Amino acid sequence: MRKILVTGALGQIGSELTRGLRERYGAANVIASSRRIKPGHEDLIESGVFEVVNVTDAQQLAETVRKYKINTIVNLAAVLSAVGEENPQRAWNVNMNGLYNVLEVAREENCAVFTPSSIAVFGLLTPKDNTPQDTIQRPNTIYGVTKVAGELLCDYYFHKYGVDTRGLRLPGLISYQTLPGGGTTDYAVHIYYEALKHKKYTSFIAQGTKMDMMYMPDAIDAFIQLLEADPNKLIHRNAFNVTAMSFAPEDIAASIKKIIPEFELDYAVDPVRQAIADSWPNSMDDSAAREQWGWEPKYDLDAMTKDMLAKLKARL
Ligand code: SER
Repeated sequence: MRKILVTGALGQIGSELTRGLRERYGAANVIASSRRIKPGHEDLIESGVFEVVNVTDAQQLAETVRKYKINTIVNLAAVLSAVGEENPQRAWNVNMNGLYNVLEVAREENCAVFTPSSIAVFGLLTPKDNTPQDTIQRPNTIYGVTKVAGELLCDYYFHKYGVDTRGLRLPGLISYQTLPGGGTTDYAVHIYYEALKHKKYTSFIAQGTKMDMMYMPDAIDAFIQLLEADPNKLIHRNAFNVTAMSFAPEDIAASIKKIIPEFELDYAVDPVRQAIADSWPNSMDDSAAREQWGWEPKYDLDAMTKDMLAKLKARL
């Protein structure tokens, strides 16, 4: 029986993945944790066990793992790309020291570890189109540096200590429950909120900038599928390219216009986030994930837009 600890459970992914894991493995078997209790997450906090855990506090983390006899850690606590550039030292501390603490307690207590990686592991030297699973990884953001180092560290703990580490190189995630916390792909979430509220959006990412994206329900499926994948079929571990669609701001605007014809898009490009976006792939090759554990997304851009606008409208 899995006994799962989710770190960063109140973030964009955690708030939905924790629910998905509770449905699948039972509420009592999924412990949600965050470095602090945030307002607006009462449902999640009350739908099962919740603990305050800061991943940079090794002792607090280890005590929680022992208290609940955890055997699987889903480590979502991280500082994203754009906010990482504002405070690289904090990004390193949370993303690297946090992950190290997770891997160490996993080694001691025999836990499997799931840590998301990102399209941010790639950089300007990486082939931009159909970016291969195994290719050049020379990112120029602190977020990307911590994600590459994190992939290597997770593989190291698997080979050296037999810790069952697995991960996904996630693209931009679009969702309506919790806003993302300061990434470069966040425009693709904000645009839906503004389309419903003001029928207008000013993009901080320039026209023509393509990036990989995915709707959250597919990401939740991907996590659970990889968690349950037959280890004998995994040639790769940390981490798998996964994508569902690739688009630029004008493409998502065109998709929104099919439902809200008056919608207008203009641009006020943020040079920091634009430089980050320019260093990431246009579109990744995710055939390794498809072959090794059956990855197959359900939502394309128009299907996502339709569902996202309907769900978000009901929420707002
Ligand atoms: N969505 C993330 C970011 O933009 C990418 O992993 O930082």
